[in-house]
Amino acid sequence: MSAAAPEITIDRHAGGAADMGEEVREGLTRRPLKELPPKLFYDARGSELFDQITAQPEYYPARAERSILNRCSPEIVALSGADELVELGSGVASKTRALLYAMAGAGVLDRYVPFDIDLSVVEACATELTEVLPGMRVHGVVGDFGRDLDRLPDGDHRLIAFLGGTVGNLYPDERAAFLARVREQMGPSDHLLVGMDLVKDRALLEAAYNDAVGVTAAFNLNVLKAVNEGLGADFDLDAYEHVAFFDPEAARIEMRLRSLRDQNVSVPGAGLEVDLAEGEEIRTEISSKFTQERIESELGAAGLELTRLFCDDEGLFSLALAAPAS
Ligand code: AVJ
Repeated sequence: MSAAAPEITIDRHAGGAADMGEEVREGLTRRPLKELPPKLFYDARGSELFDQITAQPEYYPARAERSILNRCSPEIVALSGADELVELGSGVASKTRALLYAMAGAGVLDRYVPFDIDLSVVEACATELTEVLPGMRVHGVVGDFGRDLDRLPDGDHRLIAFLGGTVGNLYPDERAAFLARVREQMGPSDHLLVGMDLVKDRALLEAAYNDAVGVTAAFNLNVLKAVNEGLGADFDLDAYEHVAFFDPEAARIEMRLRSLRDQNVSVPGAGLEVDLAEGEEIRTEISSKFTQERIESELGAAGLELTRLFCDDEGLFSLALAAPAS
């Protein structure tokens, strides 16, 4: 018997990449604290380093989220009533598998929609998963989840997953706007599944962003290499150190790069010369941590209602399943 050709379509025309020069210019001219956008972490080398981060013993979010998905996927699928999985920022599809297998196991799996900024990621997810789940349709979308959500194909029983805790990298106003835009795309029978890291003991939080072997430090410094390559900048990677700390007031980890000396950097692609003083820091990421109350109120503000909050046994990480508020 010959298998039917897998049904894969890919929409590569969503938006196109945002203007890196403009974003870097905006961030590096900010006062009092210079910033670089965290999406610049994820070039090929950065994605590799992030994969290594998820294997570090200190980096509990990856472990905890995987354990929730392994244990709770059938329940998530049943509660959502979904026949389609939309995955925003699909990245490596390995954790998605639990959800897709649960849908397949329940006999409801129709379509998988991986959505990522990187075409090669979308293609890899599409082919890898159709191999193990023949019969599933795939519609990939290459786009920026900050802007291109309107490229999602229509559906009426969709589970829209935004995993990993990436929503915590957005500032509160950006997060509110993002959740509202997702809500706008949702019909009354769609569900959202969003990974949100939980507030916990400071030492545990800080260790997760200061792993002993220094992978997170390398990941953080790699953003300067990405700017060097993308914009012809001359950041000296040896002249910065990795800093990560928990800000309990704002309930977030901040990652920064601290200049080890007074220096001047030229960033031609951003039309910019930047002075950095010894000890001055560039913020490269925030990673917000939530309480259940906070999760419910932020979802509520976007017109969403928490269906159930799934946590790992240790209470480290959560997956919030939400539906349009009735
Ligand atoms: C995958 C974006 C959620 O914020 O914890 C890991 C990225 N940064 N270590 C996070 C990250 C430093 C991660 N997210």
